[in-house]
Amino acid sequence: MIVGQVVDGNSERIVVRKSSKAALELGSLIACDDEDGTTVYQVYNLMHGTQLSRQGMEFMAGMMSEGEGFKIFERNVRNYILAEAKPLIRSDNRIPKRLPELLSSVREVENGDFSFMQDNSLFLGYLRDGSRTIKRRVCLDGGEALTHHMLISATTGRGKSNLVKVMLWELLEKEYCGILVLDAHDEYYGRNGPGLKDKAAGRLSYYSIAPVRGSLSLVFNLSLIKPSHLESITEFSQAQQEAMYTVHSLYKERWLEWLLDFDESRLDREERQRGMTHGMRIETLLVLQRRLNLILDPRIFSREIGSSTLKDICGSLEDGRKVIVDTSEISSQQELLIGNMIAEEMLYKYRHYKMEGTLERRPVVAFIIEEAPRVLSQATGIFPTIAREGRKFRIGLIAITQMCSLIPKEILANMNTKVIMGTEMNSEREAVISSAPQDLSKDGRTIASLDRGEAIVSSIFSKFAVPVNVPLFEDLARNDESKKGGQRIKLIG
Ligand SMILES: Nc1ncnc2c1ncn2[C@@H]1O[C@H](COP(=O)(O)OP(=O)(O)OP(=O)(O)O)[C@@H](O)[C@H]1O
Ligand SMILES: [Mg+2]
Repeated sequence: MIVGQVVDGNSERIVVRKSSKAALELGSLIACDDEDGTTVYQVYNLMHGTQLSRQGMEFMAGMMSEGEGFKIFERNVRNYILAEAKPLIRSDNRIPKRLPELLSSVREVENGDFSFMQDNSLFLGYLRDGSRTIKRRVCLDGGEALTHHMLISATTGRGKSNLVKVMLWELLEKEYCGILVLDAHDEYYGRNGPGLKDKAAGRLSYYSIAPVRGSLSLVFNLSLIKPSHLESITEFSQAQQEAMYTVHSLYKERWLEWLLDFDESRLDREERQRGMTHGMRIETLLVLQRRLNLILDPRIFSREIGSSTLKDICGSLEDGRKVIVDTSEISSQQELLIGNMIAEEMLYKYRHYKMEGTLERRPVVAFIIEEAPRVLSQATGIFPTIAREGRKFRIGLIAITQMCSLIPKEILANMNTKVIMGTEMNSEREAVISSAPQDLSKDGRTIASLDRGEAIVSSIFSKFAVPVNVPLFEDLARNDESKKGGQRIKLIG
């Protein structure tokens, strides 16, 4: 259907006079055909146009509000809506470089205009035309997108977690990537409702301190913790840091046990008098002991059991499986400590594989972190390291945040796929727009007006910022189940 005609434009935008029957909104996609193909444009601004003078318009408004009978001849010809639209993509997946003739007709887009969009390994949702869904899957090359890091950014409640569930649902069957989810809200597994467990069939491990059918117990042996894991979860004084490393070098994997059991009264008299043991101040050791006692919750960190947990989790990731760690019942510090342990071990292994020359044969590994700024804004630590150089070792991040302005610019620029969902705050929009792989400078209003589940995917692996509608996870899972049910019935019949 024709939606209007081009009445103005330059290389950055066209202005379309909308026909009265067409429905255009912020984000709508429109197409303009020429002899070589089609250019798709996206509406980013709507405004009024009229052939009447301001005075004439005010006079008529007065007539209407005062109830005087009158009729405007050719009302839709005289008053109309103008849509500003920016060139998005050519239907052969080239970047648009031409300007349509004045008065060229502009039409609604059709599924066929996007036949260049190939199905691929990382499903994000369906193509979106304003708020209308086009039945074309939007996918990225998962191996590339995951190792070049993804950012999912939106105001609360706009569907970030739902998107992650949708992504993981298909990924569960795929062996090219291992994914670790640190699930602070216990919302992915589906303990009491629909969730990823419904598809799992052995491809998903779920660790929790609150056991449920199919879960594994979230316990790590104390011997698995190294000073470096603790350093980036909280501030330690220089003396405390040095003490941790000294004790570690003296007692190796029993270092934490030694520190937790440290008892001044068991030292010999001379040491007590000097207030020092092994070159460390006793006072420092006691403060350190108190702090470690607070961090190392005995429900999660044990002296006796849990020696294989870290190995098992890393083994699953290396096998291309998905691992959910339910951190809803533990503190953010403990969650980070677990994340650090797993990430450091994985990076260590994958560095080794790279040296060995076998890295290319391994699945890529990605870590999903909620409230990403709390780990990515640190100067040191394993996650900023992964953001900077994980790509070389096939390890990536999926960082979820409501506050991307708190992530350092350099790291934000390293997140090469940005999924932008509804964002009301101007400062947050600016942070994400200014670091997006495509020019989104005109899309501020459109991003503010994105509804739940609506997204813009800007990626270095796509030539344009793709508008996406993310399906509701529950619908997707139900559809999949009913399809499976249908197949089963056919087989039996
Ligand atoms: N694509 C969608 N279609 C319809 N409803 C959706 C969609 N995505 C999310 N919702 C609904 O919106 C609500 C919030 O979604 P979700 O929990 O994914 O938001 P969020 O961005 O993760 O929020 P938070 O910042 O609080 O974690 C949920 O109740 C969900 O059912
Ligand atoms: Mg969420």
